[in-house]
Amino acid sequence: MRSLVAGNWKMNGLAAGLAELASLKAALAAKPPAAEVLVCPPFTLLAQAAWAVKDAFALGGQDCSPHDGGAYTGDISAAMLKDAGASYVIVGHSERRHYHGERESDVAAKTQAAWRAGLCAIICIGETESQRDAGDAHSICAGQLDASVPDTATAQNTAIAYEPVWAIGTGKTPTSADIAAMHAHIRSCLVRRLGEGAQGMRILYGGSVKPENAAEILNLPEVNGALVGGASLKAADFLNIITAFKVV
Ligand code: 13P
Repeated sequence: MRSLVAGNWKMNGLAAGLAELASLKAALAAKPPAAEVLVCPPFTLLAQAAWAVKDAFALGGQDCSPHDGGAYTGDISAAMLKDAGASYVIVGHSERRHYHGERESDVAAKTQAAWRAGLCAIICIGETESQRDAGDAHSICAGQLDASVPDTATAQNTAIAYEPVWAIGTGKTPTSADIAAMHAHIRSCLVRRLGEGAQGMRILYGGSVKPENAAEILNLPEVNGALVGGASLKAADFLNIITAFKVV
């Protein structure tokens, strides 16, 4: 399994931000990384990014419609993402769940839409702070996996991102022991549900990953990559995270 370090730019980035992708491309060409690299810019930059990056690393969308096309004003289909140069799409991010009321069934439908277009879906799960404080983190994540990961998910068409809601953009992270325990739990849920093939499905950690903590987090057992928000916006920071992989 090749690990995946993914950047989620969220609603950040104008055309000037493409220079960061050019810097990243140059740095990765000079020193090819151990991990696969993915950047998910806003929809508006995707086609230009594909041109700038020219397959030096992968690109993805941050969301897609569950529908393949039609009268859905403002929505973007998975096929449109693919057409613009994406090979991945993030689905079920906690910000989509929170601000857009997305439910597990929506996430499952978006995942299937991603697959129909030939994209790999990165399905996000994670507990809130009150759920963790109540001791419910593992059961909440198990329930999210059950309801949002379709039965036909494979290591090729799906990755899971564990993003504790309270760690996103806050500078707070779970302890290494808590991350390792959650990732082991996610792996066992996936294998029980999907079979031994799920041993190869990548489980990413996301939530306040920075150059300073990347080596410790990314080298924990069952952590097969990262989904990075704020620290992916600057090529230098993101590069320091990419190169932190498997070097402890
Ligand atoms: P931060 O890295 O900014 O905490 O964001 C994490 C995230 O939500 C990535 O999808």
